[in-house]
Amino acid sequence: MIHRSAQLIQLPKIFDDRGNLSFIEAQRHIPFKIERAYWIYDVPGGEKRGGHAFKTGEEFLIALSGSFDIHVDNGSNSEIYPLNRSYMGIYIPEKNWRSMENFSTNSLCLVLASTVYDEGDYIFEYSDFLNQIK
Ligand code: TYD
Repeated sequence: MIHRSAQLIQLPKIFDDRGNLSFIEAQRHIPFKIERAYWIYDVPGGEKRGGHAFKTGEEFLIALSGSFDIHVDNGSNSEIYPLNRSYMGIYIPEKNWRSMENFSTNSLCLVLASTVYDEGDYIFEYSDFLNQIK
């Protein structure tokens, strides 16, 4: 089985004295069709979220405001990606264990997902995750 790894993706930046602008087109800047967007906000400083993997779902996460760290574990290696720029996101393919930590106050995390919400696509237990990527 090919196991795909997470990667940082820099988005286009249109610098402007009136305020900067970035954008995302599905299947151009990120490698999937967007079926869902959700966002995480009003997170108390220092809080932690996530701690799961998806069987098939792919995600792209951006810190639209503030900062937080994305921990990604592919079963062999674990990496920490600090996100703190509105033009820099992380692509997380299916079957990668991820958690979000160290939120700054007033941070805003936008998540674009390749699937609609389906609880059945979650892998909630780390031991199940390790079994599924064998
Ligand atoms: P969850 O993905 O478990 O968030 P986290 O891992 O950051 O704690 O989702 C938390 C709750 O929100 C859970 O009850 C399911 C619900 N939810 C939806 O209904 N739709 C969605 O698109 C998402 C992402 C979550």
